[in-house]
Amino acid sequence: SASEKGAYEFFMLKEIDEQPAVIRTLQQKYINEDGSLQIEDDLKNAIDGADRLYIVAAGTSYHAGLVGKSLFEKLAGIPTEVHIASEFGYNPPLLSEKPFFIFLTQSGETADSREVLDKVNQWGYKSLTITNVPNSTLSREANYTMLLHAGPEIAVASTKAYTAQMTAEAILAKSLGMHKRTQAAADFELGSELTKVANAIQSLVDQKDVAEKMAQKYLSTSRNAFYIGRGLDYQTAIEAALKLKEVSYVQTEGFAAGELKHGTISLIEKGTPVIAIITDEKTAGLTRSNEQEVISRGANVINVVSENLATKEDQIILPKVHELLTPLAAIIPAQLLAYYTSKERGYDVDKPRNLAKSVTVE
Ligand code: G6P
Repeated sequence: SASEKGAYEFFMLKEIDEQPAVIRTLQQKYINEDGSLQIEDDLKNAIDGADRLYIVAAGTSYHAGLVGKSLFEKLAGIPTEVHIASEFGYNPPLLSEKPFFIFLTQSGETADSREVLDKVNQWGYKSLTITNVPNSTLSREANYTMLLHAGPEIAVASTKAYTAQMTAEAILAKSLGMHKRTQAAADFELGSELTKVANAIQSLVDQKDVAEKMAQKYLSTSRNAFYIGRGLDYQTAIEAALKLKEVSYVQTEGFAAGELKHGTISLIEKGTPVIAIITDEKTAGLTRSNEQEVISRGANVINVVSENLATKEDQIILPKVHELLTPLAAIIPAQLLAYYTSKERGYDVDKPRNLAKSVTVE
């Protein structure tokens, strides 16, 4: 069953491996034969009446929200803000005239997010919860629910729920864009693009030895590490850094590649691992020159690069996927690096110290 490890030593690796299947399940649940989408009309109309989306979430779900902002803005043309639930709780931003709220939560039980939903309900605004757990509190208390269908996620560090959340956001953004008749949504071939993503993830999880060797060579004894990237690669870098921190206790920062030089580059020493994520041809050259800056200060650089932008020296190659969906492929090597670093150091990968799967206190 989904909650048994079978041949796996840890749930985290099992759940990493399940990601292509999770994407296929979401395709089946939400995409009809004729390409139309299973999103309720009520929900589309509710969002159609909104002038701005407010995504509220915590942890990895917050990082999925950051990617969602690009999807909703580019495909549906709806301005979108992303907020950390615990911050929003006591310091809500100035809201637009017609806000619509989206709660992203694997468990549906995170207290920080529940607190915000309570306020939103008191204010009388409409909301959608995107969650993996049917009938969870945030699902029951929001007006609409979109399920992730990822199956139980047991490892504390979230992997398949993150890719499922981004997939669900892509589905919703396409559906809203079609409803609003945007050209970007019409041009975005969701079904075939998601199939490409599932295949890309499959090929990445089939090459685990690459990530395992990199983890052994560069991360097994290092005190700290950096992930860098620009645009969506920066959003991936933040989630990638969280994965490594959570399970391997290596102090890791996800950084906007261009911002490193404005202070943080002082932390680079001989042997500091810097992992660069490069999937966007518009910024690839700039990120590569930021890499030169850290290489000249002694950093060990690992490149995670889309195949169309790769050189012979790049260590981890990502199959090419649609530019809005690159985070779904680019996160996989980072999940594997986190897993193998933790295992190499002898930790309980599924139950990192001090962490809980679902945090029900504020
Ligand atoms: C906890 C978990 C994280 C998770 C966060 C949000 O801190 O350890 O992995 O991302 O809660 O959880 P949610 O269930 O709301 O997505």
